[in-house]
Amino acid sequence: MSPAKKSVKTSVKKSVKPPASPFYEVRRSKIQGRGAFAILPIRKGKKIDEYWGKRITHDEADRRYDDSEARHHTFLFVLDDDTVLDARYGGNDARFINHSCDPNCETVIEHGHIWIKAMKAITPETELTYDYRFEWQDDYEPEDVRYYACRCGAKKCRGTILRIPVYLRATIKQWLAGNDVPVPKKPKKGAKKVVKKVVKKVVR
Ligand SMILES: C[S@@+](CC[C@H](N)C(=O)[O-])C[C@H]1O[C@@H](n2cnc3c(N)ncnc32)[C@H](O)[C@@H]1O
Ligand SMILES: [Zn+2]
Repeated sequence: MSPAKKSVKTSVKKSVKPPASPFYEVRRSKIQGRGAFAILPIRKGKKIDEYWGKRITHDEADRRYDDSEARHHTFLFVLDDDTVLDARYGGNDARFINHSCDPNCETVIEHGHIWIKAMKAITPETELTYDYRFEWQDDYEPEDVRYYACRCGAKKCRGTILRIPVYLRATIKQWLAGNDVPVPKKPKKGAKKVVKKVVKKVVR
């Protein structure tokens, strides 16, 4: 009996091309490099696009991008504790959405997918932005904060793409102004601000 003939198919890996969102196009941005600009009116709450990219581990992301460049620039998006999306590979135009400290979009994660959603009504020609909120690391120094400098131009720009813990806000302002003051003591977890009770005197 002759062995069953194995059907040998050449394995052609189909790369799925992400669909293009009709709501925006990529142009030069005043914030940095290229950015995403609305080309249609977008209503508040609209899911504008999905953030596409190759799913990799945090360790792999650290290996690929070690922050030793003169200026910070990546297309990484943290999905969860295990996975990061690297939009340099298999990414769509959502990778060009810049950061703003006063954004018009937010990102929502649903069933392992990252969506860019309008936080307010957006008119054509407006640049789409969301807050990157890069995680703060306790060992960050003034040069790290300056490395992640923000150029969003918003009135309430915090000066950095990093998410700043409340107790460090004043310190970071100083650092960004070039005044490298020491870091204050980190408040203990669970420590609550004591609110003084105002005892109203009843004057009869
Ligand atoms: C996902 S890319 C965004 C697209 C980028 N503008 C480009 O042309 O490739 C993220 C990078 O853009 C830059 N970027 C985005 N928003 C920024 C901001 N508000 N201030 C300074 N740089 C920003 C940083 O270099 C960041 O690492
Ligand atoms: Zn900013």
